[in-house]
Amino acid sequence: MDGPSGMTRTESPALIRVLGGEALPTPPIWLMRQAGRYLPEYRELRAKAGSFLSLCYNPEMAAEVTLQPIRRFGFDAAILFSDILVAPQALGQKLWFAEGEGPRLEPVADAARLAEIDREANQARLDPILETVRRVRAALPSGTGFIGFCGAPWTVATYMVAGRGTPDQGPAKELFLRDPALFQAIIDRLVTSSIAYLIAQIEAGVDAVQIFDSWAGSLGPEDFRRWCIVPTRRIVEGVRAVHPKARIIGFPRGAGPLIPEYIEGTGVDAVGLETDIDRRFAREAIQSKVPVQGHLDPLVLRAGGPELEHEVEAILTAFGDRPFIFNLGHGILPDTPIAHVERLLKRVRG
Ligand code: CP3
Repeated sequence: MDGPSGMTRTESPALIRVLGGEALPTPPIWLMRQAGRYLPEYRELRAKAGSFLSLCYNPEMAAEVTLQPIRRFGFDAAILFSDILVAPQALGQKLWFAEGEGPRLEPVADAARLAEIDREANQARLDPILETVRRVRAALPSGTGFIGFCGAPWTVATYMVAGRGTPDQGPAKELFLRDPALFQAIIDRLVTSSIAYLIAQIEAGVDAVQIFDSWAGSLGPEDFRRWCIVPTRRIVEGVRAVHPKARIIGFPRGAGPLIPEYIEGTGVDAVGLETDIDRRFAREAIQSKVPVQGHLDPLVLRAGGPELEHEVEAILTAFGDRPFIFNLGHGILPDTPIAHVERLLKRVRG
């Protein structure tokens, strides 16, 4: 709220003001995967925890890791340290991270397997993560936003069905073509559990939530409507039925020209922009509807130098005069020099 001299009295985090539709002279900035391997303090705690998942399920350590990039860089938002794949784990599926290879799950590709994992489902497995949220909330400076998240059903399902990351999401596509009822059953479980999980994160103290649909770009328009837009809308509606003012950021990575339809169809408050999106299109067809977040190429941040300066300038010119949150178009790369992140912050904050 503005005071008599234009001074801000009850300061809500810049992130939340932008999500509410305000354009700020200096956009708030945070980075996807900002707590991660490019930070020595992260690598140290990660080694102590033993595995990535033990780090995720240890509230004390996960809270510490969430706060590390806030202390070091003073980002405008913290993002809960966890992973989108804890959701299928709570649904009963075995999950592990093969060192240097990424996630592995026991694939779900038929009704018998789905029935099997159903018997193991236990949402209480996520309780330690909610405890992390409470600890971060208590430690976070008041002007810093706090973002919770889940994976979108389509993206999470691609891992559930294949049992790992895949270049073309082929196994999930084959399943929805071969047995759409079974695929729908997987999506339905994810919709229901994601609603409960996001509500729980909000009640534990996050200011906003982001729905990561990293593989949205692998679907044609019809499948995108059915498997991305509709399930995401159900999540948005489910969360808002309990928390009508919940701030929700959608990130349908790679959806490009379908993003305007995604905004209309899902009701998200803001969208994350991928690296490859055309800026003029994004400004005219997307930012004219909702606040946007993004879209610096993680490769450009890693490279640094004049190209980084040039890109930051171009992004601020394209989006800076309307509601905008500075971010990357995808997660920060593990070998990004810390000095480049510092340079980026200086440049964005003038
Ligand atoms: O942004 C953040 O810092 C918040 C925490 C977060 C992680 N993963 C931590 C993580 C979030 C929001 C995610 C989302 C996530 N996880 C997505 C969607 C966004 C995207 O990147 O597309 C996906 C597809 C996953 C699944 C996943 N988790 C993969 C494919 C991998 C392996 C790749 C990699 O970078 O190692 C992970 C592991 C993972 N998730 C790490 C981190 C910090 C690295 C673990 C380590 O320390 O070894």
